[in-house]
Amino acid sequence: MSDCSYTRVTFFSGENVPLEMHKARMVQRVHLIPIKERFEVLNRTGNNTFLLPNRDVFLDMLTDSGVNAMSEAQYAAMLMADDSYAGSETFYRLEKTIRDFFGLEYFLPAHQGRACENILASTYVTPQTPTVITNYHFTTTKAHIMLRGGQVLEAISDAGLMTESDLPFKGNYDLDKFDALVKQAGGPAKIAFVRIEAGTNLIGGQPVSLDNMRQVSAYCRKNGLRLVYDASLLADNLFFIKTREKECQNRPLADLVKEIASLMDIIYFSGRKLGCARGGGICAANKVEYLRLRDLVPLYEGFLTYGGMSVREMEAMAVGIRETLDIHNISQTPLFVEALGKELEALNVPVVTPYGGLGCHVDASRFVPHIPQVEYPAAALCSAIYLVSGVRGMERGTLSESRNPDGSEHLSNMELVRLAIPKRVFTHSQIKFAADRIGWLYRNRSLIGGLTFEDEPKTLRFFLGRLKPIGDWQERLMAKYLGDMPSGL
Ligand code: F0G
Repeated sequence: MSDCSYTRVTFFSGENVPLEMHKARMVQRVHLIPIKERFEVLNRTGNNTFLLPNRDVFLDMLTDSGVNAMSEAQYAAMLMADDSYAGSETFYRLEKTIRDFFGLEYFLPAHQGRACENILASTYVTPQTPTVITNYHFTTTKAHIMLRGGQVLEAISDAGLMTESDLPFKGNYDLDKFDALVKQAGGPAKIAFVRIEAGTNLIGGQPVSLDNMRQVSAYCRKNGLRLVYDASLLADNLFFIKTREKECQNRPLADLVKEIASLMDIIYFSGRKLGCARGGGICAANKVEYLRLRDLVPLYEGFLTYGGMSVREMEAMAVGIRETLDIHNISQTPLFVEALGKELEALNVPVVTPYGGLGCHVDASRFVPHIPQVEYPAAALCSAIYLVSGVRGMERGTLSESRNPDGSEHLSNMELVRLAIPKRVFTHSQIKFAADRIGWLYRNRSLIGGLTFEDEPKTLRFFLGRLKPIGDWQERLMAKYLGDMPSGL
């Protein structure tokens, strides 16, 4: 039942509840530790949710990367893997699956998405072609381009950066801006590649429409520009194309994927997201591009028939990619993001709208407007959310940016806390719990203060940086919480 025209099951009562289209047959115990312990853990781990041990986390909403629940068919396939360094049957099965899925001829395996970005940036970003144009950057993508002396220009429309909106495709290219950026870069000859990111991560998992992709592709073909598609978040984007883009509502998902792929020269993805496994890969439409990219795979990743992945992960990824064509599979994250968004909005908590894929994004600029951007409002809110709920989110704001060359802060366009919804992992009551505690925090938001660095790494500082609260706001927040919830849970 992969390409049915309906995408959600409605309740006769009219209540809007995301219905799980799976049942749990294996579970993991999670622990909700009291606030005093959470306070200690937070300060031991530099107020950085990346550094929290999972044993101290109740709901891990850091990311969906590599933590989506896998299906029984994926686990079954892992037992059948053919373990060989060279020429394993497993690789050929994966290669065939990817060829059938995208309709592109050539496939190169890599150990994860950023490994693909390394290969693409190493190949195409040169002193003669230093520029990459994208709808919006992703952290690791930009870091690889910058590492090679390149620059990233963004063609997202101004409306895409508004956190409150009813635009269905906020990840879309602004085509006039795109044309102006091509000229600003010095023309097509100076451009390494043009990139479209599906389900635009850093602006709240916002999709790109098929129609917009067609237009960007037509421009690239007319002007001899190489078009690269980051399909890591394709599953969510596909759901939104199917449900929000009128002409696509009756088209099979397989057909939509093939049309998207036909518009691109190169597609790469993180298999930690697409395919709900671990790993990644690059697909190319023609042999010339394939051969340019190919030689770096054995150098950085591993032999061409595994590229740094275990055979078990390759088997799981192949099945997971095929399952992307089931509407009731790809609907789960968007419907649960919507459920969390609605619960939060009912408690007046500002969230990014329309609800996107990947996770529910709380707007820290509106939640804690009293915290200046140089004191990392989104990171402060992220630590406060953990403190009052045991929920681990991820900062997506100024902390996730790199400093300017002169050492000043590069202030982010948005200050967001992402509450990721890995596929099929959380129940509806867990979603309601998260919303309840964040709603409490919103009522007490004036108590939240900023953060400052104790230890700031030079590259991708958000991963390993350690921060401390400015003043004693966390003690005061904890005291208020214990007044309202004496158990501390
Ligand atoms: N592109 C996008 C759009 C991503 O979201 C990610 C990863 C990557 C590339 C890199 O892939 O992790 O396999 O190396 N996003 C993760 C996240 C880290 O949490 O959103 P990777």
